[in-house]
Amino acid sequence: MPTTEDPTATAAQDCSQASAGSIIQRLVREHRRWQSKDFPLIAHLFDEAQSEESAQPACLAPLRNAFHRLCAEMEGHMSREEHVLFPAILDAQAEAESAAKDFGSIRNPIGMIEQEHDWEAERLEAMRKIARDYQLPENAHEKLRLLFRELEALEAAMHAHTRLESSILFARALAAETAPSKPVA
Ligand SMILES: [Fe+2]
Repeated sequence: MPTTEDPTATAAQDCSQASAGSIIQRLVREHRRWQSKDFPLIAHLFDEAQSEESAQPACLAPLRNAFHRLCAEMEGHMSREEHVLFPAILDAQAEAESAAKDFGSIRNPIGMIEQEHDWEAERLEAMRKIARDYQLPENAHEKLRLLFRELEALEAAMHAHTRLESSILFARALAAETAPSKPVA
């Protein structure tokens, strides 16, 4: 598990009173930050770490493969959230029956996305195992230290992001469906 302070509770607390629309805006901003900054930065750090002439830990190549698999899966996951699930949640908020017309129940797209969250958590855990809990060898060079630090930060951010989706946004949408007289937010 991450050794840094877990931001999960903070993110959920920050958004506990926020509207579904503003939570979704925050989630989409995080998606964009991962796509435009964090994923490319970490990919670059793998290049840098593997170009070092000093001894490299054996985990670097499999860790890099696992990271690129995670990125590829996250592209599809984020697209499905932004183009299918988030609009459905906003529709359900604006008009109680519109989501039911498209999906039968908001539970169906949420169930699909939650399964992807389970896979995402498994991928992150597998990466942590490959990297031996991100414990650096004593003679680790600066590029490797930076890479591991960024990977751990991404792992913590992804856990916090998923918790915000599942515990706040999706939970509210499901509660609103079972009590349609109440608004989502
Ligand atoms: Fe997600």
